[in-house]
Amino acid sequence: MTEAPTITAGQFRDVLGCYPTGVCVVTSADEDARHGMAVGSFTSISLDPRLVGFFPDKTSSSWPRIQKTGRFCVNVLGGDHLDICRRFASKLADKFEGLTHRRSPGGLPLIDGAVAWIECRIAAVQEVGDHLLVVGAVEALGKSDDVAPLLFFRGGYHRLSESTQV
Ligand SMILES: Cc1cc2nc3c(=O)[nH]c(=O)nc-3n(C[C@H](O)[C@H](O)[C@H](O)COP(=O)(O)O)c2cc1C
Repeated sequence: MTEAPTITAGQFRDVLGCYPTGVCVVTSADEDARHGMAVGSFTSISLDPRLVGFFPDKTSSSWPRIQKTGRFCVNVLGGDHLDICRRFASKLADKFEGLTHRRSPGGLPLIDGAVAWIECRIAAVQEVGDHLLVVGAVEALGKSDDVAPLLFFRGGYHRLSESTQV
């Protein structure tokens, strides 16, 4: 019998890290608190109906709190948002402490200076390996035309430079 080739976690991360992504903060809120987590796995899924998705780790403590609200808002981070990215990738008890923000039409936190925001109702959650696939039905959205995004590539953060556009 042929043995399946062993791919180590390090190799997997190293190679998959060659796929560049944007960085988003997924937010939500209930009467008691605001919630948020940084994700690189955000993606557009369907145009008709309008669906987007992301993959929270099953061990995330923010995701179950967001799930309870039934809704989430994706904030696409700008190139100057590295501190905000680190804050929302942390395990801080209140990741919003001292952070001013606006509210989406549905009342969810909007990060100031985001490239774009997409407000969703949770349409489906499915287990996929050690992560969950969360599908959101888009209810409202908006963008800013003059903010360049924060990018994550090969384990490091980058700003999109206009001069390298092809
Ligand atoms: C650039 C970047 C991308 C990330 N992408 C994801 C992701 O797609 N899914 C996820 O569960 N965590 C992701 N994380 C890690 C989470 O932000 C972090 O583990 C989590 O928010 C920490 O706390 P929690 O327990 O409050 O969820 C990412 C972190 C960084 C810095």
